[in-house]
Amino acid sequence: MGKFIITGGNRLDGKLCIESAKNAVLPILAGAILTDEQVVIENCPKIKDVLNMVKILSSIGVKTVFEGNTLIIDASGINGYRLDSTLTKELRSSVFMLGALVSRMKKAVLAYPGGCNIGLRPVDIHISALKSLGVKIEEMGGEISCNAENVKGNERCLDFPSVGATENAMLASVFADGETIIRNAAKEPEIEDLMYFLVGMGAKITGGGTDTVRITGVKKLNGTQYKPLCDRIEAGTYLIAAAITGGKIELYNCKAENISSLIHKLRNNSCKIRIKNDIIYLKGGDSKKAFNVETSPYPGFPTDLQAQIMSLAAVSEGTSLITENIFETRFRHVSELNKMGANITIRGKTAIVSGVKKLYGASVYAEDLRGGASLVLGALAAEGMSVINDICHIERGYAQMDLKLSRLGASIKKIE
Ligand code: UD1
Repeated sequence: MGKFIITGGNRLDGKLCIESAKNAVLPILAGAILTDEQVVIENCPKIKDVLNMVKILSSIGVKTVFEGNTLIIDASGINGYRLDSTLTKELRSSVFMLGALVSRMKKAVLAYPGGCNIGLRPVDIHISALKSLGVKIEEMGGEISCNAENVKGNERCLDFPSVGATENAMLASVFADGETIIRNAAKEPEIEDLMYFLVGMGAKITGGGTDTVRITGVKKLNGTQYKPLCDRIEAGTYLIAAAITGGKIELYNCKAENISSLIHKLRNNSCKIRIKNDIIYLKGGDSKKAFNVETSPYPGFPTDLQAQIMSLAAVSEGTSLITENIFETRFRHVSELNKMGANITIRGKTAIVSGVKKLYGASVYAEDLRGGASLVLGALAAEGMSVINDICHIERGYAQMDLKLSRLGASIKKIE
């Protein structure tokens, strides 16, 4: 499963270019099967979730080639609509193949998706959105079977603004007869990005990134070349890394407005932050102050940065309250941070973080992607050596984290 060995205490200092967003790339890869023509994805991060999605595409006859960081996809030979559980259990985003296969093959059979163990993560909202388009769905023996001979545009108000369900409904309706309206849609920037990608292929979509997305069905989509949006969660993680070590960092290829909720918290904590075009400069301070965070759908504070900001709260003076409103069991990093000397207790949906002067090196386990990142951040700030076990979870969403942190001055070594 791999480990990072980190000796804490170095102040990070340097520059970093942010990758394209995992959460933008994954639905885009599903969308790439909607045409027989070539789709080229620039700046595609080689993280495990992306490589697993590529495996899923290959399993149904889609050709994929990486040329450096450019991924070339050719779905002209697509020959299957069934994905088995050995593939889908590796990542939650396999669920995007439902909408994409329904559009392309008129059929889809998929074992329930896996992914990070951070809550119940049902797919009921995805399924009801597809049903409202006329897709016939049966759930049996751990599989979801879709039959989509007569897909018709319809209006649907989602029970909750689910990111994945909004994207799945967009993918499923690009060829539907007439107009589809998704109300109470999620507003995450990655949804707007999926819209731009599909529009580049010839789809008719408006409102991506707002609470109402409108899709008018077209007959055919064409190939495209696309550079997905930058990764606001990767950017946020490295900003917190610089903040927690009292260091400084220049991040390139960023969209600061997509993480304004984080920037606001960091400024109040201790950091000086300047933004110029696509660059964010951060200088961490020495007297870090407690803060409160409540996760909520975009533009609120992202659940995907909750664990990382908790590491900063752990070494900030005073008591911080961190409330997780999106996922039920997204506090699995807490016991591990406490092994490093943090003082965190959980009451229901809220973690009460009593800031300590110092964290100490410890052997800890990454239980999920972002929780794993929070342990790396804790270890960077801790006195002495830490071992972060099971980094396979971290590598699902962060490309070359060890190399990037080393270049910024951290003492970090990866053991396969
Ligand atoms: C996406 C992101 C993930 C992020 C999350 C919330 C991708 C690939 N992943 O995940 O990184 O943490 O948004 O910002 O973009 N829910 C249901 N039924 C459903 C669907 C969702 O009850 O059918 C619940 C979930 O269990 C969760 C909440 O709704 O409690 C939000 O989930 P959702 O927005 O769908 O997250 P994902 O698309 O899985």
